[in-house]
Amino acid sequence: MTDLIFATNNQHKLREVREILGQSFNIVGLRGMNIFEEIPETQDTIEGNAIQKARFIYEKTGMSCFADDTGLEIEALDGRPGVYSARYAGEGCSFADNVRKILLEMEGMTNRKAAFRCIFCLIIDGREFLFEGKVNGEITLSSSGGEGFGYDPVFLPDGYRQTFAEMPPYLKNGISHRGRAAEKMKQFINSEVAR
Ligand code: IMP
Repeated sequence: MTDLIFATNNQHKLREVREILGQSFNIVGLRGMNIFEEIPETQDTIEGNAIQKARFIYEKTGMSCFADDTGLEIEALDGRPGVYSARYAGEGCSFADNVRKILLEMEGMTNRKAAFRCIFCLIIDGREFLFEGKVNGEITLSSSGGEGFGYDPVFLPDGYRQTFAEMPPYLKNGISHRGRAAEKMKQFINSEVAR
C-alpha cells in the first residue's frame, strides 16, 4: 500500500482521486492530517500552483504527497478563466457564481470550445514529478446536472451528450482532466516507485 497525502480540502476531488487510484493507495486529505490552514496558491500558472501546493505540504510534513491544480480554458475568452478558475467571480465566490459569470460573458457566442487542463505535482523523497491531463469539450448554454462540482454543469466533453454534472462519477473520472493526470501518476508510481 502506498501512502500519499493529497494537498486538498476539496472532498469532491478527494473522492474522485481515491476512486481513480484504487485500493493499492492510501490517500489522506489535509483534514485527515489535521491541517486546516489555507495553502498558498499565488502563482500565475497551473503548473506553478500545483508545485507550490505540493512543496508547501512536503515542507510541512516531510511525507510523500501530491497536489493538483486545474484551469478551465475557454477559447472565445482567450483562455480565461484559466489559472483563475477558482475565484473567477471574485474572492469568496461560489461555484454557481463562477458558472453564471462565464455564461454571461459567453452570451451570444457561437464558439463554445473549452478544455479543462490539470497538473499533478508529486513529491517523493524530495523529488518532484509533474503529470498533465486534458479534456476537450464545449460550454453549454445553461447548467445541467447535479453531480460533481465547479464548472461541471456547463462542461460537455467531446463525444458525449451529458455534461460532467450529468454523468455518473465513474464516467467522468474515466475521461476527465483529473482522471487522466491521476492515471499517469498511478502508472508512474506503480512502475518506478512501488517496485
Ligand atoms: P483547483 O485549483 O484545482 O482547485 O481548480 C480551480 C477551479 O477549477 C475549481 O475551484 C473549480 O471551480 C474548477 N475545477 C477544477 N476541477 C474541476 C472539475 O473536475 N470540474 C469542474 N470544475 C473544476
